[in-house]
Amino acid sequence: MLENNYWRGNFCVEVNPAPGTLVIFGASGDLAKRKLFPALCHLYRRGLLHEESRIVGCARTDYSDATFRDHLRGELNGNCSECERFLDRVHYQRLDYGVPADYTALSRRLDELESSGELPANRTIYLAMPAALYPAIIGELSRAGLLTEPGDGRWRHVVLEKPFGRDSASAEELDRFLHSHLHEDQIYRIDHYLGKETVQNIMMLRFANLIFEPVWNAHYIDHVQLTVAETLGVEHRAGYYDHVGLLRDMFQNHMLEMLAMAAMEMPGSFSPDAVRDEKVKLIESIRPFRRETFAEDIVRGQYQGYRQEPGVAPDSRTETFVAAKIMIDNWRWKGVPFYLRSGKKLAARRSEIAIVFKNIPHSIFAPIRAEEMQPDTLVLRVQPDEGMELTIQAKQPGPKLCMGGLTLNFRYSDLPGGEQFEAYERLLLDAMLGDQTLFIRSDVIAASWRLFTPVLEHWDALPLAEYSPGTQGPDEAMRLFAGTQREWREIR
Ligand code: BG6
Repeated sequence: MLENNYWRGNFCVEVNPAPGTLVIFGASGDLAKRKLFPALCHLYRRGLLHEESRIVGCARTDYSDATFRDHLRGELNGNCSECERFLDRVHYQRLDYGVPADYTALSRRLDELESSGELPANRTIYLAMPAALYPAIIGELSRAGLLTEPGDGRWRHVVLEKPFGRDSASAEELDRFLHSHLHEDQIYRIDHYLGKETVQNIMMLRFANLIFEPVWNAHYIDHVQLTVAETLGVEHRAGYYDHVGLLRDMFQNHMLEMLAMAAMEMPGSFSPDAVRDEKVKLIESIRPFRRETFAEDIVRGQYQGYRQEPGVAPDSRTETFVAAKIMIDNWRWKGVPFYLRSGKKLAARRSEIAIVFKNIPHSIFAPIRAEEMQPDTLVLRVQPDEGMELTIQAKQPGPKLCMGGLTLNFRYSDLPGGEQFEAYERLLLDAMLGDQTLFIRSDVIAASWRLFTPVLEHWDALPLAEYSPGTQGPDEAMRLFAGTQREWREIR
């Protein structure tokens, strides 16, 4: 328990890390080098990686343990002694994904490495690979017996990155394939947004405090705005992005997951399935988009210059911006619109969930009328500058009676030790602890594709609005507020 000027009582739910082997496929790639290994090294430095744990990188490149460690060293920021001790736990096994004998060799290597430890090890296999390779790799892992759990409590888990299909049919096919080799408890589908500090904090805020729950509903909330704005364009990912587009890339996963966290009912417990049961229920309560009202409820856009990006088709109609109005048909949210928007090349990098409360019913502070007052707004800042702010009406200091919106601002970075945590740290830790709470369950994926597949089927019929890079997105996004006084929060 920790007490200082900021925290009164600080309890950790964390259990001690168990020893295990983490096998990373795609170990010579960008994700592994930039995100996964630095995150693992941080975990080690924090004492959250068991001393007997090992990490085995696999890829086609010819490395030895020593040259692979050299390859990683630069990315781990320095020559600290802890980094070196971490690297001592890193091994490399060359593996060609299509060669069965390489999987047998991997299996032997893992047995050897584990036999030198004193404790029995769980295995987590992380596929940091394009999803198109999943079937081939999982098929081979399965044939080599690497997915079979020994039955003595030791597990064999597989961590997968999105995309999980591109519509309902392909997602179902992938799901059937995965379940022919793994049971759901073995599958850890990553949504890196769920590892972000503020996204996790939504659950604490809502379910560990009394003051929010009574007002967290249609009686008090006017609407919710969920924004994920990026300044970057498609960069070097055109080959992937131009076939995917923003709805698939951001809405079907990150945006819906955040929406579910903010809007779901309280789970019966903090167990992985209790939390994920509530998410499914929430996503299934979203009113399906109707063909006749697509144009009122969804705006799609593309930034000027996108078609000139290297690798993008010159006549591409792929969207780089989407705004949508979502209604949730349940008691809690009846009539409360959730406005979601996300885009590339916007004015600022900003992800936030803004809960905009209703105006007070009556003002006694004449001549100021209730409708003239700014509504109370709670903003959960996901990034950058993780934290939250609450804007309320307050008296301005001074002899005159003046009032206005006052913002109470909390920043994680102001806390002692408030360094930035990489979402992957949390997710890797959970995967190695065998905790699926922050990983996406198969039925959540199916429900989210059920929502968006009908939209995608008519996607091209929806006009594609152009917007200039560095702006708020297309003006057409205002269309979602037609007939109301609402407006988008500025992206800045
Ligand atoms: C990824 C998308 O899942 O999330 C990218 O594929 C997007 O297109 C990225 O840029 C955004 O993540 P973050 O953590 O930088 O907000």
